[in-house]
Amino acid sequence: MSLFSLLINGGLSAVGAVICYRLILTYIPIFIQRKMYGNDQSKTSNDPVPEPMGVICAAVYLIVMFIFIPVPFFEWVGSETEFPYAKLLAILSGLISISTAILLGFADDMLDLRWRHKLLFPTLSSLPLLMVYYVSGNSTTVMIPGLLRHLIHPFFDLPISVNISFVYYIFMGMVIVFCTNAINILAGVNGLESGQSLVISISVIIFNVVQLIRVDSQYWHHLISLYFLLPFTACTAILFHFNKYPSRVFVGDTFCYWSGMTLAVVSILGHFSKTLMVFFIPQTFNFIYSLPQLFHFVPCPRHRMPKYDGKSDTVSMSKAIFKKSELKSLGKLSLFIFNLVGLLEKREFEKDGEIWIEINNLTIINLVLKFSGPMHESRLNQVLMGIQISCSILAFFIRFYLASLFYDV
Ligand code: UD1
Ligand code: MG
Repeated sequence: MSLFSLLINGGLSAVGAVICYRLILTYIPIFIQRKMYGNDQSKTSNDPVPEPMGVICAAVYLIVMFIFIPVPFFEWVGSETEFPYAKLLAILSGLISISTAILLGFADDMLDLRWRHKLLFPTLSSLPLLMVYYVSGNSTTVMIPGLLRHLIHPFFDLPISVNISFVYYIFMGMVIVFCTNAINILAGVNGLESGQSLVISISVIIFNVVQLIRVDSQYWHHLISLYFLLPFTACTAILFHFNKYPSRVFVGDTFCYWSGMTLAVVSILGHFSKTLMVFFIPQTFNFIYSLPQLFHFVPCPRHRMPKYDGKSDTVSMSKAIFKKSELKSLGKLSLFIFNLVGLLEKREFEKDGEIWIEINNLTIINLVLKFSGPMHESRLNQVLMGIQISCSILAFFIRFYLASLFYDV
């Protein structure tokens, strides 16, 4: 029966992809007519690029998911066995969180929301999902690494696993808030937002399939993840086709929040939120590296995307310039650390009797450009995709090889 559901889900995903393709072509002129577009800041032409096209794919995705909802439950129609309400609830709560993320993204595209809203809204929209997780009696137990148990053994007898209860819920809430924002702040290069999401979702699909084949006790959890991810991947692949260099459409914040939330939701429903974090290594690094600018310890310009040079048709590191006196003590500390470990390009100069500081904007994109020098935008996206794919390979190595050394998995 589950194979039948997966086949239907795959078929609906393929239909969704075709509909996305046609709708995007139909809506490109409509977006421009309605003045819903952005300007590609790394091009000499100032042609309008329809934005946020992610809303079209997100709508198709929701329709596919709504049509799919009854499919996994066909076998209970007219059956005497008890209906699996917890499974239906899990799908519905996931869809609530994803729908609210799409709403938040669209609001951000239209209104340019403040950071506190971008943090508060996903926190609250995670509640239905966490509530269902709680009432379904899902586990909040984490394994203790065998190595740690052996090291501590002479002093304490540590158990194999420990129930961290509400701390686990805080962790899952943080995963949701992090994922919804992480893709949006690793952006500004043609094809990057859709490309990274595609690599992560395909990696998670491979992980789910491997787990389905290897471990049968978590069967439903990996299956539900595939139900959500196959249509997402199909719609995102089409979006990537239009968003890759040279972008014919921009995905918008709608796509970034939808994508982040979908990945977070499947990891929670599929019980692999810790593994998901390993697939998010580039985003986690980018987030930590960005923290001084996100929290304004260091001044943050509106856009941190690379700087375009029309003559050579290349992009290079973009810089933030500010008075030394504007720097807060946490800002000074973070710049000192980044400088120490070679992650910062910094220049101090004097102008009008004041000391000014020039640093590269703190994103992984600018960091790549710091080490490589200027390059063509499409090449930059290929390098960033290469990093993302390498991290997925590393994640598989960590999850399937290293984890088995440390845990009894
Ligand atoms: C986030 C980043 C910002 C980055 C921006 C790029 C943080 C805190 N914010 O802001 O630094 O500059 O994404 O999306 O890190 N654009 C391009 N080429 C692209 C993609 C986007 O030129 O390939 C430009 C277009 O003008 C587009 C605009 O970026 O209209 C979209 O920016 P938006 O998504 O509103 O920026 P934020 O998500 O707020
Ligand atoms: Mg954005």
